[in-house]
Amino acid sequence: MVTDTHDPGDERGRTDESHWWRNAVVYQIYPRSYADTNGDGVGDLPGITAHLDHLEWLGVDAIWCSPVSVSPNADWGYDVADYCDVDPALGTLADLDAFVAAAATRGIRVLLDLVPNHTSIQHPWFVESRASRESAKRDWYVWADPAADGGPPNNWVSTFLGPGWELDAATGQYFLHSFLPEQPDLNWWNEEVCAEFDRILRFWFDRGVAGFRIDVAHMVVKDALLRDNPSATERDHWMEQLRGQVQEFNSCRPEVHDVYRRWRAIANTYDPPRLLLGETHVFDVDALASFYGHDDELGLAFNFMFMHDEFALDRLRATVAETEAALVADAWPVWTMSNHDISRFPTRWCNGDDARARCALVLLLTLRGTPVLYYGDELGLPDTVVPDALLRDPVTIAYRGMIDRDAARTPMPWTAAPGGGFTDPGVDPWLPFGDLATHNVADQRADPGSTLHLVRALLALRRSTPDLRAGAYADLSADLSAEADAWGDAWGFRRGDHVQVVLNVGTEAVTVPVAIGDGVVIAIASDRVGEGDTVGDSVEVEGGRAVVLVAGVGPAH
Ligand code: GLC
Ligand code: CA
Repeated sequence: MVTDTHDPGDERGRTDESHWWRNAVVYQIYPRSYADTNGDGVGDLPGITAHLDHLEWLGVDAIWCSPVSVSPNADWGYDVADYCDVDPALGTLADLDAFVAAAATRGIRVLLDLVPNHTSIQHPWFVESRASRESAKRDWYVWADPAADGGPPNNWVSTFLGPGWELDAATGQYFLHSFLPEQPDLNWWNEEVCAEFDRILRFWFDRGVAGFRIDVAHMVVKDALLRDNPSATERDHWMEQLRGQVQEFNSCRPEVHDVYRRWRAIANTYDPPRLLLGETHVFDVDALASFYGHDDELGLAFNFMFMHDEFALDRLRATVAETEAALVADAWPVWTMSNHDISRFPTRWCNGDDARARCALVLLLTLRGTPVLYYGDELGLPDTVVPDALLRDPVTIAYRGMIDRDAARTPMPWTAAPGGGFTDPGVDPWLPFGDLATHNVADQRADPGSTLHLVRALLALRRSTPDLRAGAYADLSADLSAEADAWGDAWGFRRGDHVQVVLNVGTEAVTVPVAIGDGVVIAIASDRVGEGDTVGDSVEVEGGRAVVLVAGVGPAH
């Protein structure tokens, strides 16, 4: 066992129960794709509950479920028609309570997905709002008169491209939709909307929900004057260039921070405090840092710079360094490589190369910060090619070849048998299976050398090694001293005083210095070779391999 009892969290922010998420490993589930218990081909809440043994065995601390609220599914749950009930396709409120309770008995917390930027066009609030200009809920949404030429009120475009405004012919005004036209934006300048969401937060917190992942957290508040966005230039991020504009007036508005201060105050009245984990899709670390406030806004803010990097060490090292510099004592990084909106990392980063995928997992699970795994990451699961006729995501269908979200949303492969352990044999799942034979839970669980066992071992090492959870990050390969040459295509960093990680994504072996003192062993190797071996002043790491070295490990463990 590791003998270090010093809590390194003291140096860079609190890691006690008031900030429990800083010690946690989070696992994202896309509920429609986890496990189907009633043979309709759609994953459901009882299916998640039935697989808690997998998550407990793996060692995750919290689950984030993509939306389970009532939805007409124009955007698969991200168009909400009732914030305080469960979609019938996924189960009932009682199923949700049972899931939260069953997870709690295993020490696992449950985060739900909250979508405050917009509702479904079918939400009763919007139905009432669009009924007339005099409607009591008219101001709950962003309505505006046409421009002088009858066109949209300003130049804002949808995040999914195309105009951000839709004309309501009956009342002669446009409503704003930052995403699909079926997702009208709420007006966060309206105090009744704010009060309603306070109530929604409490509704779920009172039921034992441990927090929320907040959908498009950066965009919730819009410029009150609805000013035009400036055009993008070639200096701007490629996504802004694609949109043709910089989202100056419909994203990252100063007033959005008031919303999160208000919510954090509510979250902090609970024991333990509830977590606010933001989908902060911003393009620089200072904007990211702003969402933490002074530890009085979001508890964690997703880092899309990291996820959108190439799997090139220089890029990732730079992003980690910038993030480390920007997120000081009040803030805590969160790292993720995959989610339901982007190609899975074993495909996007690793081109299906298993050894590289294992290196990436070692990286994710050893950086300073909270890691978020996406279901299937623990298997090194690649994308599934979904034939055009079987696509379900409207955004994928509209932007074929440019955006592919369905490839990362296919059912969890539990076994290689017909139905994949996901649904009954013979039932068509809502999205097709990938290759069940190459990646499935049952086979990997039976194989101690599998990616699944590697991930489990990394989570166990985090638990038993304070430096791995909270020790300061120091890049060992960044300095330009004489030793730097030795690093080649390898990246090495120290975590606290007792842990060193070396990732070699090149093809040549490297021999690099060990910077954590004596009694150092290979605690985990991505290929599981040489674990337990003692190393001296230097360590050799072959290409396509990563090792986690730990000092001060006793002889028997
Ligand atoms: C977020 C979600 C995405 C959804 C969009 C609109 O980006 O992750 O799936 O389409 O918001 O709600
Ligand atoms: Ca089902």
